[in-house]
Amino acid sequence: MEQVIKERAAYLRKALNRHNYLYYVLDEPEVSDAEYDRIMRELVDLEGKYPELITPDSPTRRVGAPPLEKFESVPHTIPMLSLENGFNEEEIRAFDQRVKKLLEEDARVTYTAEPKMDGTAVELIYENGQLVRASTRGDGFTGEDITANVRTIRTVPLTLLADSSLSIPERLEVRGEVFIALDAFKEFNKERLEKGEPPFANPRNAAAGSLRQLNSKITAQRPLEMFCYGIGAVEGLSFDTHWDILNGLKFLGLRVNPLVHRCKGIESAIEYYKDIESKRHRLAYEVDGVVIKVDDIEFQKTLGEKSRSPRWAIAYKFRPTQETTRLVKIEVQVGRTGALTPVAHLEPVSVGGVVVSRATLHNEDEIAKKDIREGDTVLIQRAGDVIPEVVKVVLSKRTGQEIVFKMPDTCPVCGSEVVRLEGEAARRCINAGCTAQIKERIKHFASKDALDIDGLGDKLVEQMVEKGLIKSYADLFTLKRDRLIGLERMAEKSADNLLAAIENSKRTTISRFIYALGIRYVGEHIAKVLAERFVSLERLMETGEEELLDVEEVGPQVSKSVIAFFKNIENRQNIDRILSCGVIPETKAVGKEHPLAGKTFVLTGTLPSITRAEAKAKIEGLGGKVTGSVSSKTSYVVAGENPGSKLDKAGSLGVEILDEEGLKKLLS
Ligand code: IVH
Repeated sequence: MEQVIKERAAYLRKALNRHNYLYYVLDEPEVSDAEYDRIMRELVDLEGKYPELITPDSPTRRVGAPPLEKFESVPHTIPMLSLENGFNEEEIRAFDQRVKKLLEEDARVTYTAEPKMDGTAVELIYENGQLVRASTRGDGFTGEDITANVRTIRTVPLTLLADSSLSIPERLEVRGEVFIALDAFKEFNKERLEKGEPPFANPRNAAAGSLRQLNSKITAQRPLEMFCYGIGAVEGLSFDTHWDILNGLKFLGLRVNPLVHRCKGIESAIEYYKDIESKRHRLAYEVDGVVIKVDDIEFQKTLGEKSRSPRWAIAYKFRPTQETTRLVKIEVQVGRTGALTPVAHLEPVSVGGVVVSRATLHNEDEIAKKDIREGDTVLIQRAGDVIPEVVKVVLSKRTGQEIVFKMPDTCPVCGSEVVRLEGEAARRCINAGCTAQIKERIKHFASKDALDIDGLGDKLVEQMVEKGLIKSYADLFTLKRDRLIGLERMAEKSADNLLAAIENSKRTTISRFIYALGIRYVGEHIAKVLAERFVSLERLMETGEEELLDVEEVGPQVSKSVIAFFKNIENRQNIDRILSCGVIPETKAVGKEHPLAGKTFVLTGTLPSITRAEAKAKIEGLGGKVTGSVSSKTSYVVAGENPGSKLDKAGSLGVEILDEEGLKKLLS
């Protein structure tokens, strides 16, 4: 074979490994997915033509190997320990006291704190930079050889990256957690259900199950990821602190959670816990606490371990978010689109620090499936800011006195007929004049992401509808001051404030306006898509099915709903009235909300206290744009820790560079 072909294959392999690293580890891709696929295809073709070119570490070799009969067992060079748990601040401070006492230290001890990933522990072994073995934790002393499976995980490098500042060690045992992100888990379970396969109970079980597949071709189809959090035996490299270990792993191309944080003293670690707990439900993966580790490796050695866990680390677990309580009664609410939703009234109970007295029951099928009855003792679950839900009934607590629930045949608010259309989970009140629907439509219109009318809260809307002041959102713009003043808790000043807020809301964007109209299936995102495509409201109102279906992300359901909405005479009249009152939905970002309009940002490296996704959302929220590569048109480069080549490029182009503080100033 010609030398040029060999060199080409080596070049492609190197390029793919680098792009993998940029994409999965640094989250800073330099090429598009299409470009990546093109390089991959070229390599696959070359290796197909010349099989002698194939090397075991080729990025094409991630598709799985022939199935195994059974897993071999692998002893761990150094046992894989577990962690002691702490559940409150006192226990964490007591841990710190013990550490200080054993170390005979009076000063604050430095800790490294990390999210505790809720996945499954894995050990990777690299010899001279090559991944040679991967194993499960097993009983801590001996695990199972799952090398073929782990090789299919794209966040696990098959070869370590050679970096100038760190030479490749002869041997490196790396430990970390393999997990499945929440979105991927949902998608994956959905597909299983469609194929008639049983779904997994949670992402952790799905990750563990996927790793224990004898056929690695199946594992290759599973959306597994890995974060590394520590090391076992190492030859040819040494570290002074745990923080250095994590950074070293990153340099070598291994993925480390970007939320790891170094804390001076235990109080700072407790702050970190609070921060992660508050972010917990916005993270892409499940976390069940934080792990606090003594940073200094000499200190770790002095502290040593007790039977199964090190004395230098503790898992500070989150409060449970499930609790049992009694379901007192089921009430039926009517939503904006007339959908009847059953809601559970509960005996108040504290779940993860928040008192819960209501939970959603979704729809009647859900109630039937879980056999939920009034009077039942139920297990409820709270996930972040979302409404708590009923997980299941505690059947052992049933007395026989419980009442089976039946959905009403008429609207509980207006008494009109209720229908359940084919393929829909909810019954609907079909009376568009139903007061419940009117109230909900107006609340939606005024809500934060719609026209954002300050001071127009739910209670006020309800009162105004009940007193006959308004019958639709269009009426908001012709409200009279003296009628407002007659309302409960509405003094002159608050009436003036409300009128000013309504006046203010007249300058808005087309996308907010479309969203505010409350068209079924048109959420914030679709509203944006429609606004971008049609530019003016008039154009959108005139469009037909074909044109709508031509818009990416718009399917038949959305298009039908949009057309029906604008065909409706009452809706058109409402829109005409609103526009004639001086409401101006503008295409371009307007007013105080968009101070960053026209500015482009590039983010690089890890920011100390916010994630890149958060920073991006904030910038975009203020009208700015975030792009992937630096050019002379870039307004700012925001650089965190371990910035990539983008920082150098910014420097050479003279683009302004901000740190997190600088960004925060700009955002405030
Ligand atoms: S350190 C000796 N760090 O939690 C230190 N463990 O009960 C041992 N885990 O089986 C582990 N995230 O799989 C550590 N950032 C993290 C972790 C973590 C999750 C798991 C690990 C272990 C269990 C400990």
